[in-house]
Formats: sequence, structure tokens, C-alpha cells
Amino acid sequence: MATKQKGPVYRCSNCGHAEPKWLGRCPECGQWNSLRESAQAEGRADRAGETFPLPILSIDPGEGARLPTGLSEVDRVLGGGLMRGSSTIIGGEPGIGKSTLLLQVCARAETKGRILYVSGEESPAQIRMRADRLGALRDGLEVFCSCDLGLVRSTLDALKPSIAVIDSVQTLRAEEAGSVPGTANQIKYCAQELSAWAKAHDAALILVAHVTKEGLIAGPKAAEHLVDAVLGFEQGEGDMRVLRASKNRFGSAEEVGLFRMGEKGLEEVTDPSGLFLVRRDSRNMPVGTAVAPVHEGSRVLLVEIQALTVPAKAGLTRVYSERIEAGRVSRIAAILEKHTGLRFSDQDIYVNVAGGMRIAEPGIDLALACALFSARSDTALPANTALAGELSLSGELRPVRQMRRRAKASAAMGFSLLIGPREAAGEGADGKGRAGAIDSREAPGWTRESDIGSAVRALFGR
Ligand code: TYD
Ligand code: MG
Repeated sequence: MATKQKGPVYRCSNCGHAEPKWLGRCPECGQWNSLRESAQAEGRADRAGETFPLPILSIDPGEGARLPTGLSEVDRVLGGGLMRGSSTIIGGEPGIGKSTLLLQVCARAETKGRILYVSGEESPAQIRMRADRLGALRDGLEVFCSCDLGLVRSTLDALKPSIAVIDSVQTLRAEEAGSVPGTANQIKYCAQELSAWAKAHDAALILVAHVTKEGLIAGPKAAEHLVDAVLGFEQGEGDMRVLRASKNRFGSAEEVGLFRMGEKGLEEVTDPSGLFLVRRDSRNMPVGTAVAPVHEGSRVLLVEIQALTVPAKAGLTRVYSERIEAGRVSRIAAILEKHTGLRFSDQDIYVNVAGGMRIAEPGIDLALACALFSARSDTALPANTALAGELSLSGELRPVRQMRRRAKASAAMGFSLLIGPREAAGEGADGKGRAGAIDSREAPGWTRESDIGSAVRALFGR
């Protein structure tokens, strides 16, 4: 557990920053004569609401306590910036670009306080070289190369950064928690100690965690419940990188941040609507492809789904799908087999998403079904048609959210038809979610179908 310092602490009445001795001016917010003695042990335990209850309406939600990172795609995923007093894990495969991203965040984050970048993997000179290349140099950014939790903690105490990055949590070692760095015990202990420090000092802590392809390294997983946000940095196709939250106490976990890795580090992709489409001139899509408007956080992206079916060998069938969960692919294939009579149960199925986007949104069911049907029946979909809707096991096309925006985004990308469910989920202009209330100007090209059978007949003529 964190060793809490006893004795007086001076806390700024303006920003809450704590200092071990009195100062005339708060080093954090610059306010004069704002430091007051607080007799309590250091930490936030002296605050109302933590030692006694407070009416919820009287609590300041602390929106001002966010530090924008200077990268809008990172802020989007975090819910507006790094929260003071919070801890965040960012996981990803080695080489994906975690250190690059965080050095860029360190360089651009909007704080007057100091920023500490702790590396257990690179030398100061290596980090300086990379920062030169990224243009990530600034006053107030300090680099500390160490693998020793004790040293890192005393550095934090001495420097009192408002943002601290630990790259990576696997390289840190605490005397108290056994001898081998990178074990679950060590990672949990270090994560716990450092997030307690961040909480007590109103700093934003970011822990880097290396995660392998299976995502199942015991260590970082074990620390996830100790932190406020868990982000994953994933590989898209080629230089594409996707940042997404799997846990976020301070925002939605639905937003994705999109980047390209380039010569000068990560570039933000701010208009990604057509990024996951493959442009072609033909009247039809290639066999086995279908396009869906996907609702990711606050954006709608057009995404091409690609499917291939081949007869399985030796009676054993498999689904190969990394971007869409394989269980879902099997379920959609079963629904198609049952409701359209096209056989999938003797086929190996391959599914991919153009651009390498991983999709969990239910609204792609219809597009996935049509890509599979197209692949299996060797019949192409028309190139002007996008598809949206969830499928129930009984083959009904279920309403999805944001039909208006899906239709508009599809039309904007040149898809004049959007085949979708009869109704939109909870967004009718009459406030009752009635589909009839959305007219064709609001949702251009929206063509309503009731089930997979009628959609397939309309699209494939069978
Ligand atoms: P890095 O941030 O070191 O990955 P991680 O910390 O997740 O292990 O990124 C390493 C890769 O990124 C490396 O293969 C080189 C590439 N890269 C670029 O393409 N452009 C750049 O500007 C930088 C800094 C790295
Ligand atoms: Mg790294």
C-alpha cells in the first residue's frame, strides 16, 4: 500500500494541488496566496464526500480537471482529455506505436505543470532522438530512465508532474513485490502504488502495457480494475492505428481514435468516413463484399465487409474472422441457412473488414449476411447499395440506432440506397421512435425491409 506522509500538507484552495511546504504561489495554477495548511495525511481523504457523504447535487463534477492531450483523437477516446487524479493503462503489441503516441501526448498536452516520461526500455539519448524526429520537444518535459519503482516514486515526489507516463509497467520492479519484473504481482503492485500517487497528487498517470496478439498476458489484465481507463492501441491495415477504450470511468467506451503512423510519428485521421472503403469503378461490388455504415462512438464510418466461403475439407468447418467476432459470423451464417435455404454448414468461412477495422457494432449484421450470401451464391451486390440492421435469430431485421446519420453518411459516400429495417431505434422526429416520422430528405435512400428473406430477394433476386 502507499506509504502516506504524515504531518501538514499545504493545499491550493484554487486547484487542489498539494505541497509539502508553504509557498507564496501555487506552482500548479499560478495563484498567489492560495496554499492553506491541511493537517490531514496527504491524499484526498481530507475532502468532503470521501470522509463524509455529500448531496450529489452539490458535488462539482470537476470537468475543469481535464487536461486536453493536444491530440483530438486521443481526447475523443478519453472523453475530453486526461482526467487529473486518474490512471490510464494503454495496452498494445510491441512496436504498434505506444511510446510514439505517448511522447506526442507529452509534447502537446495542455498543462502548465511538469510532465514526466519514465522509460524502462530506452536510453535518454534514444528518447531525445525520437522526440527530435517527432518534434516533441518542450519545456517542462523531463525524461527519467529507470526500472525501479522506489526511484520512480521519489522522482514523482520531487518533480510533482501533472502528467506522468510509465513506459512500460512491465519493466518496473518493486523491491516489496518479489524479484521478477513483469509478473502479475509486480505489475499489480506497481500499478496500485502509482495510481495511488496520481490520485493523491491530482496528476494524470498513464501506464504503458505490452500485450500480445491474444491480449491475454496475465499482468496488465490483472491491473485493469485498479485504473480508471483501459485503452488498447491496435493495428489497422498498413499504417493505420486504432485507439479504443475497453473501460472508461470518465467517458464513453465507444469512441475510437484513428491514426496513421508516418515519418513524423502518428498523424490523426479526423475525417475517416471513407477510410474503410475500397474505391472501384464497376457497377457491381466484387462478389463477397458488402458495405455498412458503422456507428462508432460519435461518428459514422462506411466500412466494406469481405467474405469468402470454400467447401470444408473432411467435414470439419471453421470460421476465420479476426475483425468481426467469429461466433457472430457463425450465427449470421446459421440464420442465412435457415431463412434463405443457402447452405453454409459445409463451408469454411473467411471474413475480413477493409482497412483492418475491428467491429463489434450490431448494425453490421445485414451487411455481413449479404457479404456471406454474395460469396456463397457467387452473385455481386450493386455498387450503390449500403446495408444496415441487426438480425434476430428468427431472421427479422431489427432496428438500429442513428438510421438518419447512417443514411446521410452513406449518401455522402455515393451509396444512393441504404437497405435497412422498417424502423429506426428511438430517433423518430415525433420523439416516439416511429420510423414514419423520418422522411426521405432526412434519411436519403433508406429502403425498408422486414427480414433477411425479403432483403435477400430484393438484392439478389432470389
Ligand atoms: P513504438 O512507439 O516504439 O512502439 P511501442 O512503444 O508500441 O513498442 O513504435 C515503433 C514503430 O513505429 C517502429 O517500428 C518504428 C515506427 N515509427 C514510425 O514509423 N515513425 C515514427 O515517427 C516513429 C517514432 C516510429
Ligand atoms: Mg515502446
